Amino acid sequence: MRPQQALRVIISGASSGIGAALARHYAASGATLGLIARRRPALERLAAELGAPSEIYSLDVRDTAALAVAARDFIHRHGCPDLVVANAGVSLGTLTEHSEDRQMGIVARALRVLPNWLYDRLFANAPHKPRRGG
Ligand SMILES: NC(=O)c1ccc[n+]([C@@H]2O[C@H](COP(=O)([O-])OP(=O)(O)OC[C@H]3O[C@@H](n4cnc5c(N)ncnc54)[C@H](OP(=O)(O)O)[C@@H]3O)[C@@H](O)[C@H]2O)c1
Repeated sequence: MRPQQALRVIISGASSGIGAALARHYAASGATLGLIARRRPALERLAAELGAPSEIYSLDVRDTAALAVAARDFIHRHGCPDLVVANAGVSLGTLTEHSEDRQMGIVARALRVLPNWLYDRLFANAPHKPRRGG
């Protein structure tokens, strides 16, 4: 992986919460960012605040075609990302100590499946793919 100040990072669910916090973290060390979420105004506010090179992709991550277009655009402008954070989603706000085994099974499955799902859709037709993992 490149040094942190030169990282190219794509974050889904960047318009609020954990995704926005991660964007601030990486922007502070000079990373170039691809910000994905549905709410464009929130992404625009974040990009303006970051003061780092960033691309905004206002889309629904369930839209496979839109994700592929976003990936191609980011790679065209900045090269292959070093890191893709598949963070978009909805939290039910259930504390783990109050969760049933069935719920924890769903969480474990989501953690395993979601990053691969996003990776496959983002880089379906990309000439250069980042290393899968993490
Ligand atoms: N906070 C927690 O304690 C916690 C615990 C376990 C897991 N998580 C997971 O961590 C992730 C972030 O949580 P958070 O607390 O930061 O939640 P949040 O503030 O509600 O952020 C969720 C982000 O996902 C985006 N998003 C949701 N559905 C989307 C879709 N279909 N397409 C594109 N973007 C979408 C939202 O943006 P738009 O509405 O603009 O699209 C928003 O930026 C979620 O996946 C959540 O399930 C959080």
